Amino acid sequence: MEPLIKVRDLYKIFNIGLNAVPALNGVSFDIYKGEFIAIVGTSGSGKSTCLNMLAGLEAPSKGIIQIANKRIDRMNEAQLVAFRRQNVGFIFQSYNLIPSMNALENVAMPLMFRGVDYKERTKAAKHYMELMGIGDQCLHMPNQMSGGQQQRVGIARALVIDPKIIFADEPTGNLDSHTTDDVLTLMKKIVSEEHRTLIMVTHDPHIASWADRQIRVVDGHVVETVINNESPIEMEILKENGEPPFCEVKKAD
Ligand SMILES: Nc1ncnc2c1ncn2[C@@H]1O[C@H](COP(=O)(O)OP(=O)(O)OP(=O)(O)O)[C@@H](O)[C@H]1O
Ligand SMILES: [Mg+2]
Repeated sequence: MEPLIKVRDLYKIFNIGLNAVPALNGVSFDIYKGEFIAIVGTSGSGKSTCLNMLAGLEAPSKGIIQIANKRIDRMNEAQLVAFRRQNVGFIFQSYNLIPSMNALENVAMPLMFRGVDYKERTKAAKHYMELMGIGDQCLHMPNQMSGGQQQRVGIARALVIDPKIIFADEPTGNLDSHTTDDVLTLMKKIVSEEHRTLIMVTHDPHIASWADRQIRVVDGHVVETVINNESPIEMEILKENGEPPFCEVKKAD
């Protein structure tokens, strides 16, 4: 069983004027197809930086990111755009829906960039709206929907291109606790039933406990990885590989 994502000794240093801000200090881990991973840590620990590099949105300062046998860290901007369009769905904390488009048009939009014709992309968008339990809200504008409904639109939009990997940065950060549980239930269902790989960033240990496995980041280092042994995917990885998923744990400075 080969990992879908291999990260080795990954660094990100931001330069602000004469100051070098180290955001990620050499992290290494593997993620397998079908896993629901939580990258967890306090504010400023480097979670979003890590996620953005995995999604090809930000270039690493140093290190290796290999996804489906392709070296993301070596790609130029044009290759990254193609990689993202083909493989990556992104769910944002603030939904990022286009206010002048209705829910269905928002969900269908990524397919427009792919050149899919109107009829086909509308059909696909409708399918994912229904999967998210908001099939009756296709014509609603974002400002006519609750936070939880808008985030379901956001998830449907991430799924519509049939991505290998879904990245989510604090996807429930703007939701109340009841709606948070609903959205997490949906996300977990998608991972298990549709065999997706989901990588979610959160600062909240309760939300992180929904994942199959947690990767804890402190000051740009991975300090701990926690496996939920009841998760079938983790048991399968253990059985196949004879050991838990690789995750180099370093003590924070
Ligand atoms: N574009 C940037 N330019 C300069 N410094 C940055 C930039 N993005 C992040 N940083 C710095 O890198 C460190 C890690 O930031 P990051 O956004 O990854 O943290 P985070 O764990 O996602 O925090 P939060 O939970 O608050 O979102 C912080 O010290 C931050 O100030
Ligand atoms: Mg963040």
